[in-house]
Amino acid sequence: MLFPDYRPRRMRQSEAFRRMIRETALSVEDFILPLFAIGGKKVQNPIASMPGHYQLSVDNLVQTAREAHALGIPAVLLFGVPDRKDPLGTAAYAKDGIVQRATRSVKDAVPELAVITDVCLCQYTDHGHCGCVEGECIDNDASLDLIARTALSHAKAGADMVAPSDMMDGRVAEIRETLDENDFSRIPIMAYSAKYCSSYYGPFRAAADSAPQFGDRRTYQMDPANALEAIREVSMDVEEGADIVMVKPALAYLDVIYRVRQEFDLPVAAYNVSGEFSMIKAAEQMGWLDGPRVMMETLTAIKRAGADLIITYFAMDAARPLQRK
Ligand code: PBG
Ligand code: ZN
Repeated sequence: MLFPDYRPRRMRQSEAFRRMIRETALSVEDFILPLFAIGGKKVQNPIASMPGHYQLSVDNLVQTAREAHALGIPAVLLFGVPDRKDPLGTAAYAKDGIVQRATRSVKDAVPELAVITDVCLCQYTDHGHCGCVEGECIDNDASLDLIARTALSHAKAGADMVAPSDMMDGRVAEIRETLDENDFSRIPIMAYSAKYCSSYYGPFRAAADSAPQFGDRRTYQMDPANALEAIREVSMDVEEGADIVMVKPALAYLDVIYRVRQEFDLPVAAYNVSGEFSMIKAAEQMGWLDGPRVMMETLTAIKRAGADLIITYFAMDAARPLQRK
């Protein structure tokens, strides 16, 4: 395969040829759209750093869910912005909590759309950590019960899948057991398995009001320098009963997505996080980048690295051109 016998440009000369040999094709089935639910009625608070995204009251969130479904997006991932916080994050597992209400309403209005719920405590705790706090420490084992309780209350509200994002050890097993004991053995778990302690979450924390009030998340989220550890984290979640494993963030961790894809045979999700979205939107607003093209290139890269599913704030923007094709 040497020049001049082989000329790679031969197969690049027309769009027809390029399409024929294209190795990676995005499709709308790949996308999961994150949404932020907040109390009240007719609320649509813009998230400054995430153009096109809002904290939505349930009525408006249902409307957005309808639009996502109409575009062919198979699933949404719900986050809650509660009106009260306390040390144990009790609003996370309240029967009439914000995610529970949003879940019920979306399932009523658009039953074919899958509702996945983010299971964590950080939006609901007054200290902003993903577990309960003992002094300055995050108490792993004491947090498990609260996390499992949250997952169960989401399932009771009608969630189709739960997605624990807390990074406590053993939470997948605890959730699986709790769901099974309560007749929810059919509910899958999408585990945030290799979730890094990343500064790319900044815009999300402003949107969800979930920044830690002291310290940081380094004692539970992964060190960005580690990839072998990601394999260990994923194997634990697989053993504990995860149905989908996730790598998060996506762009700075494409190698981790690739490794996880090679090592495991479960579906792999990648979370194209808030900071990755904001960077592209900001550069687009400055006139420095062609936003729509960079969006497609980025999503294609995440899929090419091995992600079967992409959780992305671009879901609607990317679904539109794909639908027209
Ligand atoms: C909460 C949670 C976070 C994200 C998803 N779930 C933030 C965090 O861990 O601090 C980040 C999502 C994003 O940045 O888009 N555990
Ligand atoms: Zn959290």
